[in-house]
Amino acid sequence: MSSERVADVARARDEALALIASSSTLDELEQARIATLGQKALLTQVKRGMGALSVEEKPAVGRALQEALAVVEQSFAQRQGALETEVESASLVQDRVDVTLPGRVGPVGHPHPISMMLEQITDIFLAMGYRVAEGPEVETDWYNFEALNMPPDHPARSLWDTLYIAGAPTLLRTHTSPVQIRAMKAQPPPIYVIAPGRTYRRDAFDASHSPMFHQVEGLAVDRGITFTDLKGTLDAFAHEVFGPRLPTRFRPSYFPFTEPSAEMDVACPSCEGAGCAACGRSGWIELLGAGMVHPRVLANVGYDPEQVTGFAFGMGVERIAMRAYGITDLRHLYDSDVRFLERFAG
Ligand code: DAH
Repeated sequence: MSSERVADVARARDEALALIASSSTLDELEQARIATLGQKALLTQVKRGMGALSVEEKPAVGRALQEALAVVEQSFAQRQGALETEVESASLVQDRVDVTLPGRVGPVGHPHPISMMLEQITDIFLAMGYRVAEGPEVETDWYNFEALNMPPDHPARSLWDTLYIAGAPTLLRTHTSPVQIRAMKAQPPPIYVIAPGRTYRRDAFDASHSPMFHQVEGLAVDRGITFTDLKGTLDAFAHEVFGPRLPTRFRPSYFPFTEPSAEMDVACPSCEGAGCAACGRSGWIELLGAGMVHPRVLANVGYDPEQVTGFAFGMGVERIAMRAYGITDLRHLYDSDVRFLERFAG
């Protein structure tokens, strides 16, 4: 009887060892565990039947069972360890990061042509010792017109098609000139400032107009400033932007806040003065408005026109950018078409 049980145990053990050895995944090994050590397994049955064995049978069967269980469990542990190592090294190979691969570079933006132009203009004046001044885009009538020598009924106000804020005594600034006033009111002379910024007019949106555009204003007030200083400064500026070869010219003009007033042209960069479609056959392109600051403007901010004089100028950034970069339709600058804007990268 006992030798039969012992033989059962040996058979069950060998079967278990064979099952373990043939398990090639952790799942299969788990199945083998259930088959050899679970409720219905032969070894479990022998164990359960121990109580029914005679005193003589028990020691031999018990020893054989213990030995078999020890061997089988050890074999399970070994196989499990081996299979786990296999899984781990397989995943290490599969998930390996190739650190020698080149990185993926995402799309990188660049400044808008208007920003580039604004920055270039500002930098030229910063290099001459000017500083940047700022003012609000929503302005009062006083700063936008009155302090600039345009009292309420002044006919020159019609030069600017103004956008008023409904229900408020304010407007969208029609030019950057009010920043002159703010800058002068904030400090005594001497003053050298440049004011880049957005401006607004009641204009249609077409190839050469936009209700929102950018200007750069300039102001220099000091003792003994003359029209010669104005010409020299603005000539130097034009040569920086358009190159030193292109001539400039000054034409008499009118602005309420300057006396005398002038407009400055630069020879057309496309035809160098010969006359072409880009400059309307004139050979010149209009660059900016300028003049000697009107004594009444100086008095309006508390400066003494007997002590100091100054010059001021204002230019449209879109128009200069279009000339400098050869852009023929202003609307391209606001369409946000990346194919167009990419031309200005780098
Ligand atoms: N503010 C003028 C405009 O919007 C431009 C201008 C002309 C500004 C002469 C000035 C200046 O400071 O002196 O058309």
